[in-house]
Amino acid sequence: MRSTAILATPNHEAPRQVDGTRAVRERIPLMMPSLPTAAELLPYLERIDAARWYSNFGPLVAEFESRITASFAGAGDCRIVSVSSCTAGMELALRALALPAGAPVLVPALTFIATASAVRCAGLSPVVADVDPLTWLLTPAIARAAVRTIGARAVMPVTTFGAEQDGEAWVAFARDTGVPVVIDAAAGYGNQRDPGPTCTVFSLHATKPLAAGEGGFVVTRDASLAHAIRRLTNFGINLDRPGDGPIGSAVATGTNAKLSEYHAAVALASLDRWEAIAAERNALHARSVRAAQSACRGRLAVQSVAADTVRSVCPYLFPDVATRDRAEDACRARGIGTRRWYLPTIDRQPAFGHVAHLPTPHADAIGERLLGVPFYPGLSDGALEEIAAALGSAFG
Ligand SMILES: Cc1ncc(COP(=O)(O)O)c(C=O)c1O
Repeated sequence: MRSTAILATPNHEAPRQVDGTRAVRERIPLMMPSLPTAAELLPYLERIDAARWYSNFGPLVAEFESRITASFAGAGDCRIVSVSSCTAGMELALRALALPAGAPVLVPALTFIATASAVRCAGLSPVVADVDPLTWLLTPAIARAAVRTIGARAVMPVTTFGAEQDGEAWVAFARDTGVPVVIDAAAGYGNQRDPGPTCTVFSLHATKPLAAGEGGFVVTRDASLAHAIRRLTNFGINLDRPGDGPIGSAVATGTNAKLSEYHAAVALASLDRWEAIAAERNALHARSVRAAQSACRGRLAVQSVAADTVRSVCPYLFPDVATRDRAEDACRARGIGTRRWYLPTIDRQPAFGHVAHLPTPHADAIGERLLGVPFYPGLSDGALEEIAAALGSAFG
């Protein structure tokens, strides 16, 4: 299989391959972040100038957290902890659970490396599990069987490509097994409405529908977990609980994972136009799939998700490896960006060395037939037709 590993995907440059060479510049790139304009940011930046408060739980971070809290009103009494990234939030959420060193944590095979990195950085051991063949998600049903086999002490289901995890089913899972559940909802804002039994962590990375450039936030109904995670984002310093030790001293080994006021400004400006972002992405995704299916005579499979899912990417499943590879070649020849999400799977990433894994036939079958194609606000109908034609050519 040809390596498609890419080191970075800057916005306007062709991505650099692992061997350091530049790929042919893409006419239609895979992703094009869409963040608030300078004019939309200005009122927030002026507030920062006036307050001269730049980090450490400032007024814009507080406003961002309270607006996110309001958006989770339907999920009960939720606490929000803003963090510097989803990856940092997941690591600190796991650390706050105080599991034994090296304890096994179940992660799906089909996910971005950050899910497993967070587990490793928290001093725990990722164990890779399969995903559902239709939703492409690590589900409570899969986790129940896996937890019995490997004795996992936590589960990290992922809202893969933004698809909602069943929060109520995870609550039932945690009640029955006693195993906490940290949902990696990096691309799931707007879709993951229930934070599940333990907590859910979202990303504000530039490529996500709700974007701040970098950043993230944890949502939980557990007030003491929220407090522990927030303390860990601020060097473990005890700010407010004399019973935990001297105020102003580090009572846990924390890190610096706070969201700055500048990032909160961008996040707030993104929230201001959230309805428009969600509607535009939904309409664009529907047009993309229509064009692609028409060119491929309906032979592409798509992830089975709720119709109103806010999309961050556009992955298709081809009937077989050879057709996927032909589609990939056709796109490359036409300067159309593609990505084999998320290959290699977690258990084959060199950084992780030996990773325990359960059989993953569905994730393997999805991984070798999946191809992500360009998807971003502003993609023209002409570009959608070009992408569709390239995919269609793979079917002969
Ligand atoms: C599934 C998943 N988890 C975690 C992350 C990392 O998020 P962040 O960049 O905010 O750390 C990503 C980023 O794309 C992701 O796709």
